[in-house]
Amino acid sequence: MRKTVIANWKMHYGPVKAGAWIRAFRRERLPKDLEIGVAVPFVSLAAARSSLGRAGVPYLGAQDAFWANEGAFTGEIGPAMLKEFALSFCLVGHSERRQHLGETDDMVAKKAISLQKNGIRPVICVGETDAQRKKGETLKVVRAQVAAVLSAGLKVDGAGSPIIAYEPVWAIGTGKACSGQDAKVVHEAIHDMLNKKFGKAASEIPVIYGGSVDARNVGEYLSTTHIDGVLVGSASLDPRAFGMLCRASLPA
Ligand code: PGA
Repeated sequence: MRKTVIANWKMHYGPVKAGAWIRAFRRERLPKDLEIGVAVPFVSLAAARSSLGRAGVPYLGAQDAFWANEGAFTGEIGPAMLKEFALSFCLVGHSERRQHLGETDDMVAKKAISLQKNGIRPVICVGETDAQRKKGETLKVVRAQVAAVLSAGLKVDGAGSPIIAYEPVWAIGTGKACSGQDAKVVHEAIHDMLNKKFGKAASEIPVIYGGSVDARNVGEYLSTTHIDGVLVGSASLDPRAFGMLCRASLPA
């Protein structure tokens, strides 16, 4: 499986700044064998759609979606609306949404399934908090989060096949990255669950790592068994730094 690198801009860059990022990123030399995607804010999807491909980024994504395709849900954006932008993927269950907006495992599962039905890959984010890690509950918490989407009817389904992102909450935006070896244990546990559920087809589901990934540590993650890619927040905001990270992702 080719390695995946996904940028998550979070709440940065409206259409004007998104356009500037993409123009700058076009100058970056990128490794051919990398699956590169960028998750942009809703308001920048149109700007990104028209120019991201020319910057060598084949996969455009959103950062969230509601579970219903349309209806009386003021302020929400449904998967069918996102489909008009020919999105490849959409993040769901990011810990910032679980923390600040009260998203539950049940909501995350409904969003993931609905995206799949619309042919958009859900990138399902899971991960333990610092307190849970200190209590030795990492695997218990992550297994429960993954089990919630599996039991809701997640499928391995061509264009809508999921990606699981293991993002320890304590490592997000803190500069305290999880070591490759610690992440490996969790990734292995997730792969085991997927293998039990889907058998051979599970090999189509990448399990990627997120949390303080940068150009210096990305090589360590991507050379660790069971880590199929990375989700990058802060280090993706500067197009040159993100270009450098992409080049550092694969052995020269
Ligand atoms: P970070 O964010 O790279 O800034 O730690 C990662 C994420 O939240 O996806």
